[in-house]
Amino acid sequence: MPDSNDIIARPLAEVPVAVAAAAMERCFKGYLVPVRTTPESWERRFRGEHLDPFASRIYEHDGQAAAVLFICRRGWTSRVGGMAVAADARRRGLGRRVMRDAIDDARARGDRALLLEVIEQNTPAVKLYKSLGFRMTRRLVGYRWDPAPIPGAVDAPREIDPLELARVALREGEPELPWQLAPETLSAATAPARAFALGDRAYALIGNPGAETLSLSALVVPRAHRRQGWGTRMLRALAAALPGKPMQAVAIVPDNLAPEFFARAGWERQGISQFEMRLELGG
Ligand SMILES: CC(C)(COP(=O)(O)OP(=O)(O)OC[C@H]1O[C@@H](n2cnc3c(N)ncnc32)[C@H](O)[C@@H]1OP(=O)(O)O)[C@@H](O)C(=O)NCCC(=O)NCCS
Repeated sequence: MPDSNDIIARPLAEVPVAVAAAAMERCFKGYLVPVRTTPESWERRFRGEHLDPFASRIYEHDGQAAAVLFICRRGWTSRVGGMAVAADARRRGLGRRVMRDAIDDARARGDRALLLEVIEQNTPAVKLYKSLGFRMTRRLVGYRWDPAPIPGAVDAPREIDPLELARVALREGEPELPWQLAPETLSAATAPARAFALGDRAYALIGNPGAETLSLSALVVPRAHRRQGWGTRMLRALAAALPGKPMQAVAIVPDNLAPEFFARAGWERQGISQFEMRLELGG
């Protein structure tokens, strides 16, 4: 691989989704968690996260992707939704250049802050972000549950429009949730995602019921009904309605959001956790 200066950057909007998805896989090869993506799953994920293809970039040399930078935007805030340098182009300053581009562009747009999440154990990336002035705002954790067959009576959840769930999350969810848990992200959920309700007491969103491990993408108990067992009843109802599969909440849940709730319900903390980091840009 050449010097970082021979690498040309262009807006992601200039390349088809399939090229963007392949570039992401190439640059994340060998990553701490496997990054597998198809054009469809790439599009589904980033549509909800509000990827801006004109603010995002692909860095190329001789037609090969050397780095990717995915920028998501909402209002005055930008977020690095993904960035990686291909293995054969690392340790030559390209990662730093990519992040400087992200910061400079955000400043030039007049954004107030730039956010990102990084796996806590990813030392190279954490070091890079800290050296550019990013500060950790909170730790994000994940949970996993292998439900045993549930004895006794279990509620039957009603399937609802995922958009209804997003509206409940906006009204009743915690404020200032991490980007991927925020109602703005949830409002893009479409099939195969499925949403369920227990009356008007508890609401849940399952990412893809066909996956080997079910992803709990959201769980909301309206404020008036909290501490009355509805959250636990919903988890049991989901396990009975979609039986035979483990469930997970990926590592985007603030560690202080509901640790006792998950522990009481028999969920275990996952080994991987993330830092949410933030760079104030003024403005
Ligand atoms: C993290 C990553 C983007 C860094 O890219 P890079 O081009 O190798 O980084 P640079 O050469 O620009 O290095 C910039 C700084 O990052 C840090 N860094 C990079 N690699 C490092 C390593 N192996 N160990 C420790 N620090 C490292 C250092 O602070 C370095 O500055 P220095 O060289 O002055 O010490 C790259 O390792 C990568 O793509 N990893 C896999 C994907 C990934 O983790 N993406 C981030 C997800 S949040």
